[in-house]
Parts: sequence; C-alpha cells; structure tokens
Amino acid sequence: MVKPIDLVIFGAQGDLAGRKLFPALWHLDSCDLLEDDIRILALAREPATTEAFLLDLRDSLLKYVDPERWSEELWARFAQRCQYIAIDFSNAADFETLREGLSEQRQPIFYFATPPSLFEVICTNLGNAQCLFNEPRVVLEKPIGRDLASSREVNETVARFFPERNIYRIDHYLGKETVQNLLVMRFANRFINAQWDSSCIDHVQITVAETVGIEGRWSYYDQVGQLRDMVQNHLMQLVCLVAMEPPNTMTAEDIRDEKIKIVRALRAIDESNVAESVVRGQYTAGWRQGQELLGYQDEPGAGEQASDTETFVAVKAYIDNWRWAGVPFYLRTGKRMSDKVTEIVISYKSLPHNIFSAGENIPNKLVIRLQPDEGIEMHMVSKLHSLKNRMTLARQTLQLDFLNSSSMERIPDAYERLFLDVIRGDQSLFVGREEVEESWRWCDTLIEAWRTQGVEVKGYRAGSNGPTRAELLIENDGRSWHES
Ligand code: BG6
Repeated sequence: MVKPIDLVIFGAQGDLAGRKLFPALWHLDSCDLLEDDIRILALAREPATTEAFLLDLRDSLLKYVDPERWSEELWARFAQRCQYIAIDFSNAADFETLREGLSEQRQPIFYFATPPSLFEVICTNLGNAQCLFNEPRVVLEKPIGRDLASSREVNETVARFFPERNIYRIDHYLGKETVQNLLVMRFANRFINAQWDSSCIDHVQITVAETVGIEGRWSYYDQVGQLRDMVQNHLMQLVCLVAMEPPNTMTAEDIRDEKIKIVRALRAIDESNVAESVVRGQYTAGWRQGQELLGYQDEPGAGEQASDTETFVAVKAYIDNWRWAGVPFYLRTGKRMSDKVTEIVISYKSLPHNIFSAGENIPNKLVIRLQPDEGIEMHMVSKLHSLKNRMTLARQTLQLDFLNSSSMERIPDAYERLFLDVIRGDQSLFVGREEVEESWRWCDTLIEAWRTQGVEVKGYRAGSNGPTRAELLIENDGRSWHES
C-alpha cells in the first residue's frame, strides 16, 4: 500500500527554500495537488518554534506566490502541514528529535537544500538515527561537486545510503514546462523530427541570458563561475534534449540512456581548440533601464584581489555523431545582460537554389522560447500580398504562445513539477549519476584548457549583450546571434 509522505526539507530557512521550495509547495496545495496527508518537516539550524517559523514563512510566501491565488483559508490548510524542527546538521544527537518526528507508517523524502559539503554528515546522521526506513527518497540540489573528482565523491557518499532509484538530482530547467515541451515537439511531430539533422540544420544556438547579477552570492559564485554554475548543468541538459535520439519510451532509464550518449559525443575542447571555441567575460559597471549597475568586482562581498571568474561564457561545441556531424552548437550564458531570455534557435540551411528572383534566400529558423513569453516561432518565407509587386518575399512568423494556447492561468514554476514527480516517484525529469559525471568530465577538460592556454576574461558592460568577442565567435563563421 502507498504510504503517506513526510517531506523533510533540510535548509528550510535558506534562500532557495524561501524563494522556490515553499512557494512551489504552496502553489501545489492551492491547486489541490498535494495529498491531504502529506506533512512538511522544515529543518534548519536556527532555534525557533513552529509558530515563529510559520510567521516568517507567511511573510515570505506573500512575497513570492501568486497574490491572486492567496487566501487565508488556503494558508491555514498549508500551515497545518508544516512543522519546524531546529537541528544542527552536524550534530548526531539532534537527529534523535527528527527520528521522533518521523513515523514508520509514512515514507520520508529528504530534500537537501544545503551545500553539498553537508550531504555526507546529513546522510550519516540520518543513518545512525535510524531515519532511513520505508524506501526513503533523497533530493539533491546542485551543485553536485565542482569537478569530476568531487562530484564522484558526492555521488559515492550518497550512494552508500540511498540506491540510485531513490536519488533525485534536481536540474530545475528540466521542470520548466517549455523544456518538457521540447521533447513533445520533437517526438510527437513527424515533420519536425524528419528535418532534425545535419542535412537540414545549419547550426543551433542556445542562449540563457540573465539580467540579475550574482545576487549577494559572491563567496559561492566567485569559486564557481558561469561555466560551472550554468553550462555544466542547465545548458548541458538543453543540448541533450535538442540533440538526443528518440528514447524507446519515456521512462527515466530510456531518456537517460539517450542523453548520456550526447554528453559522451561532445567533442572535447582542449588546448588545441579552446582559443577559437570559448569566450569568457566578466561584467563591469553599466546601466539597465535607467538603473546604475555595479561591476562584478564591486559587488557586495567581493574581496580586495582582482578576480578572473567569468560571469559570461560562450562556447562553440560539436557533437561527433552521425546526426550532428559538422553542425556547430553555439551556447552563451551570462549574468547582467540586457534582457532575460532563454531560447533555443534551430537555424536551417539555405535552399540549394532560389527560383524567386525577387527575394533573397532566407533560411528558416525555429525559435523555442523557454522564458519569458514561453512559446515557439517558426520563421518562414511567404509572399507579401500585393498587386503592384507581383512576387515580393518576406520572412513571416508562425507563432505558438504556450500560455494563451493552454487552459493554464499561469505557467507553473519548475519546482512544482519536480516536487510532484518526486512525490509520485517518477525520475524521468531528474539527472542520472552518469550524466552529471560525464558532463563534469567535458567541463574539466575545457577549464583546464582555458587555464593552461590563458583564455582571459573580457570585460562587458552590465546591461549589454556580453563581450564583443562573443559576437566574433559566431560571426567569424559567417553567422550571427539571433536577436528576438
Ligand atoms: C541557478 C543558478 O541554477 O539557475 C543561478 O545557480 C541562476 O545562478 C539560475 O541565476 C537561473 O535560473 P532561471 O530559472 O531563473 O533561469
């Protein structure tokens, strides 16, 4: 019989829990998607009673949830589920209190919203306090390590306590509705799938541009940089979903099997090709929408010493397999860019011969926008209606707007989907151990190459589109970045 769930959140007073986890759970509850008997055990170090925790939680939810859905009745129901337990994660004795709060009639899900350096001690203490019963699941937040060796350590530690089938590694990009739609678009539409390879596609662009800076996370971010923070996980997942072969079924195993083949087929970027394949940037002071923005090195928390951590990275990658031979994948991501945009652009080849003398040969493009304005645009060529000019061709756009074409009032946050799937025991939108490790292997080679070859960070103005070099990365190949 399916047991009711105890959702145990480690790091319940942290930024992620406040901004993402509790709002996601609240939204699920407000849509009646949380079973009545699910309990939420919020764990953090700060001494507090459940009442005091709930007062803070209420304030924080009011900031982050959809105000139109808020009601005191819903809040009362949600608050009823929550219990706060003050625990020092490295103190074994404190876990006895947690053990008393759990019940053998229920199945625990442990959510580690903490730095990975705490995973080992938390697992050990959970084990010693006999908290690991009833096939417990564990949810791991990124980063899983900072290179291949440390990610293996993290994975091995967790594997001593939980089998892989019960480990849910979050990459919140996989929970975004539009990212899931990418699979549907590719594998439920014959005409798209039939044109999805190097015979039709000239190149692929993936842009994840953010307007935010590092949001007070200097000490974390400066050790990490944009390649580790965004490319190793989110962009890598997008590359996999764009490039993978159709999985046999939609099970987690089949999807992971196909994704891992893509990561393995990524051509290494090493000292022989790093100079022409990678651009690194760091934002300097600038302006956006009338607001003055600090440079990276002046952000709160920055040290005295100059930092060469990249806040922008652009990469030209190749996938060495049959389908994608010779098709460049241009990836770019940066903080403090002019606009927040996440989009994938599939750029088709030009026609072999243009029979319309009145128009240039305009290649098709398929633009998949993940955020904002989630949707798909197909850029096509069509005749402009005109009697005067018999045959004037122009680029026109077919648009599919996901929000307006669905019955949803709002696009749910990725964490809502991911929570539901963990609760239901569906791993297909979570990342497997091998994927994480292979992705680190590729990133490690690249980072080592830029270190030995001295690939410098180039400054770019906050509020701009990144360093000029990133334009050249693609323009030197006779192409240009898509501008929405
Ligand atoms: C996180 C990164 O994983 O993703 C952040 O650590 C980044 O640096 C964030 O800002 C971006 O997520 P989203 O959903 O806003 O694109």
